[in-house]
Amino acid sequence: MTATAFYIPSVNLMGSGSLQQAAADIQSRGWRKALIVTDAPLVATGMVGKVAELLSEHDVTSVVFDEVKPNPNVANVEAGLAVLQQYDCDFVISLGGGSPHDCAKGIALVAANGGSIKDYEGVDQSAKPQLPLVAINTTAGTASEMTRFCIITDDERHVKMAIVDKHTTPVLSVNDPDLMVGMPKALTAATGMDALTHAIEAYVSTAATPITDACALQAVRLISANLRTAVEDGNNKTAREAMAYAEFLAGMAFNNASLGYVHAMAHQLGGFYDLPHGVCNAILLPHVQSFNARAADARLGEVGAAMGCDVQGLSADEAAKVCIEAIRTLAADVNIPAGVAELGADEKDIPVLAENAMKDACGLTNPIQPSFDEVCDIFRAAF
Ligand SMILES: [Fe+2]
Repeated sequence: MTATAFYIPSVNLMGSGSLQQAAADIQSRGWRKALIVTDAPLVATGMVGKVAELLSEHDVTSVVFDEVKPNPNVANVEAGLAVLQQYDCDFVISLGGGSPHDCAKGIALVAANGGSIKDYEGVDQSAKPQLPLVAINTTAGTASEMTRFCIITDDERHVKMAIVDKHTTPVLSVNDPDLMVGMPKALTAATGMDALTHAIEAYVSTAATPITDACALQAVRLISANLRTAVEDGNNKTAREAMAYAEFLAGMAFNNASLGYVHAMAHQLGGFYDLPHGVCNAILLPHVQSFNARAADARLGEVGAAMGCDVQGLSADEAAKVCIEAIRTLAADVNIPAGVAELGADEKDIPVLAENAMKDACGLTNPIQPSFDEVCDIFRAAF
């Protein structure tokens, strides 16, 4: 076995009341002025004001940058960086889901390393750690609050750049389910299916280790048992807390075992048509795993068992099929669209989507490296 590294923020606050604890932690570190990176809807709910007030009670001032778009782009990073420099902020807080966290990582990385965020596409391209980042999560989730993955759209090329860099790891992550109860049903479903995709892609990854396996399977168990309830009854704190733990565990898995072709392909759909990341993943997940089954059928059978399916006595091939069917059922139960055509994708774009998917760093650890024609076939099946 080759040497492996395990990346995770050094402190991770979980559970009800962890936002309060985060404010005290920030104060104890001596940081004085935060750039809060967030989006306009969270300002409208009053959550951003609440966090700014909590910080000021702990002698920390803050400036808000609320222009983050659902798929943050290069211009978003540049605009946020300008605000950070104008106000001379000494650390960054991201508040929201994956989009604010990714945009904040881009800002903090360029603040410390200079140049453009485009210079850091790929794996470990930066020389220095980013400005300290505290990531306060409100979805469950992308797990961006605790990973070294930063996805920024390059509008000129219509692609999502995958920046996988140990220097983008936040120093402190906060998962307080009290901040998640207000999440709408569709966002709960999409982000929950994103977390399931992280767990499954990490479990069948060629870079999986016993540590990432344990995290991935427990994430699958928690998501299978709690996502439907979290979608149906957003105020159910038990389900919300279980999903917060699940998305974090799935993050621990994929932050270290990486991902596969579901993400490599979903990034292209998201970047090309500006579509929600979790929905693209949820639609592609069964199709990519059907393709992967010839190399990963035993592992997919184990995922099926973690999802609660009875796979006793089945062959590996049959158990993988049961698992894929269970993924489809869960996606349908939380009202994920059946195909990407419903989202406005166009079949004539498949060749360019496939070409870009094959360049995405997330595909490197897929259990099988597909040919261009095979990627096109998977996209076609997902329409
Ligand atoms: Fe994801």
